[in-house]
Amino acid sequence: MANPTEDHFFKVALRMVDRAGTLVRDAFEQPTSNVETKSSNTDLVTETDKAVEELLIRGLSKEFPDHKFIGEESVSGGQKVELTDAPTWIIDPIDGTTNFVHRIPLIGICVGLAIKKQLRAGIVYNPITRELFSAQKGKGAFKNGFPIHVSKTEELNKAVICTSLGIHNLKTLGEPWLDNALANQKKTVLAGVRGHRAFGSAAINMVYVAQGSIDAYVEYGLHCWDIAAAAMILKEAGKPFNLMGRTVLCAGTPSLAKELSSALTHVEMETEGDAIQED
Ligand code: IPD
Repeated sequence: MANPTEDHFFKVALRMVDRAGTLVRDAFEQPTSNVETKSSNTDLVTETDKAVEELLIRGLSKEFPDHKFIGEESVSGGQKVELTDAPTWIIDPIDGTTNFVHRIPLIGICVGLAIKKQLRAGIVYNPITRELFSAQKGKGAFKNGFPIHVSKTEELNKAVICTSLGIHNLKTLGEPWLDNALANQKKTVLAGVRGHRAFGSAAINMVYVAQGSIDAYVEYGLHCWDIAAAAMILKEAGKPFNLMGRTVLCAGTPSLAKELSSALTHVEMETEGDAIQED
């Protein structure tokens, strides 16, 4: 159903993301500088992450003064993760900061919009490859304006999957977590998976599932800003989701998701707030 108000929100966000893309692309062409660490030695932030988040929040709040924000760098600076019924923009200025720092062109500027705690729109833009993934609730998922769909692969032995060790979990969950993560990799190999990929950006992993290049993706210990925008795109390309759950297990088909899930030993993670099950 047409919703002119939300269409306006979405168009403004697309304009802001395009501006943010220019900023990221310009920085990507320069030598890396100003890399700081946050919660651990593997959790990086750059001046560009901060500048992009500021640009997006400043631009969106100027247009929509009553909207709320959950932004990765604002949360790192001490802001609480709070999802209320108000329109809330969930932002990761650069998902794949380590890739950005190492000038690996797999990054995503992520902007998701939740209203009444439900995702309504998502934008993931890779300004280096100029791939713009987007979706609005009920309207389908698109890459550079063309519809995308998840793959139809049903069996693990025909699937290429994305996994990530998510090495930042070592600090909070210790060596047993690492043993489990490595054992899970082994289990998927023994289950006959066709191949593993790890792109270093949760958002890129997810939009690759949305466009059907990757059949499934599993990772533990993510945050809502890593996944909100891509989750919307994935949902519109065919998948349900828990936004605050900190675990992603998604696949093109329910049977592949089930087979992958039963091959793994899962890690229990505390949610980031109330579980929000998107259908
Ligand atoms: C990270 C990426 C990475 C994932 C980490 C995230 P960031 O996000 O999505 O792939 O393994 O858990 O924190 O820090 O680059 O925005």
